[in-house]
Amino acid sequence: MDYYVHAQRRFVSHVVDEIPGDKSISHRAIILGSLCTNTSVFTGFLTASDCLNTLEIFRNLGVSIERSGDTVTVHGVGLYGLKSPGHHLDVGNSGTGIRLITGVLAGLPFDTTISGDSSIQNRPMRRIVSPLREMGAKIDGQSRPGKSDIYPPLTVLASDKLRGINYTLPVASAQVKSAILLAGMFADSPTTIHEPEPCRDHTERMMSGFGMALTSHQGTVTLTPSHPKNPNPTVPIQIPADFSSAAFFMVLGAIATPLRLTSIGLNHTRDTLLHVLIRMGANITVENRGGDDFEPYGDILVSPSQLQNTEIRATEIPFIIDEIPILAVAAMNANGTLRVRNATELRVKESDRISAIVSIVSAMGGTIREYDDGFEIDGKTAIKSFTADSRGDHRIAMSAIIGAVAAGVDATIKDCDCINTSFPNFFSVLHSITQP
Ligand code: S3P
Repeated sequence: MDYYVHAQRRFVSHVVDEIPGDKSISHRAIILGSLCTNTSVFTGFLTASDCLNTLEIFRNLGVSIERSGDTVTVHGVGLYGLKSPGHHLDVGNSGTGIRLITGVLAGLPFDTTISGDSSIQNRPMRRIVSPLREMGAKIDGQSRPGKSDIYPPLTVLASDKLRGINYTLPVASAQVKSAILLAGMFADSPTTIHEPEPCRDHTERMMSGFGMALTSHQGTVTLTPSHPKNPNPTVPIQIPADFSSAAFFMVLGAIATPLRLTSIGLNHTRDTLLHVLIRMGANITVENRGGDDFEPYGDILVSPSQLQNTEIRATEIPFIIDEIPILAVAAMNANGTLRVRNATELRVKESDRISAIVSIVSAMGGTIREYDDGFEIDGKTAIKSFTADSRGDHRIAMSAIIGAVAAGVDATIKDCDCINTSFPNFFSVLHSITQP
């Protein structure tokens, strides 16, 4: 589906209160909820295709999961209660799905095969396969002509028992850290992971919440295997709205129209875009904070101001990785130069996001210089009417649409179905605040 933005839209509301639930936390809710020895109810579950695929996979593995709207009830079967699915498992477009679930499959006493769409089949898996093999897992994947990594489909053979490892992450990746921690639940000894650069910590928070013996201190996470159990099975666990989805409207608010975004997840390993926008001179305040015992959230109030571009520090990259496409749109509206380096990871996301950002910024009439590990944008360009291709990447599609809406130009953004993978009601939220 292509999407047409018409120039001269009017902003008709300032309240954005339907940002859907956090994608990362929703995946973990299904996975860890399934491995608990009892039942958990989650509200605010993200009913987008990525997380629905994870839900379906755990149903296929024998877990009873009821869903009513964004409430899911997961009847956990414990670490050793999963059943052979009898066919291959399909994560669709989700890198988080395949990497985390493979961590679980590594510890199971039956063979499985897991794969996904054409984008997934080109995403590097050695980063999880190597540490999981060190733990004793028997995993094989595919090679691709001209490429040196391991790619899905992944075949995971039955395992007796895994061993804990002491592992230093070669890339700052929460997906890799989480795959190892999930496999570590099935190990006969503790697993320790060292993070040279910290990255998102949703797995650790949920494991601790489910009573697992996990310590995390100065970049070292240690998990001692035990059986997860929900301490309050009758109390629903609220998944906050996804900061990464809110980010599109945060930037719209910072460059075009005042907005209030309600109950947005504010985990400190995710909210760096907020701090970067403030550093750039954005008018942002946070009200009604809550949720500190599980995942923090709050209302974000943002209004337009003259922004000044900045340099993103290497240590900030893992905490802003998914927001860099929309940051590029903010940068086009700011004075000075935005510098994003040390971000090679962007090359292996749902698309090669460095190349995709270069292509949408150029299409909009901006000035951008590409590097192996990032880019620089010279700001204050007048965005002109444009046509852009999402390359099947949801965050690229939404960034281009927000760029056009903020600039009030006509635009065609090709291939927007991918938005369903993370933000199925994106257009209804957009149309609730701005109309042609
Ligand atoms: C995610 C981690 C990040 C992020 C992805 C979701 C997660 O990937 O880009 O959208 O839920 O753990 P990496 O951990 O590979 O950087």
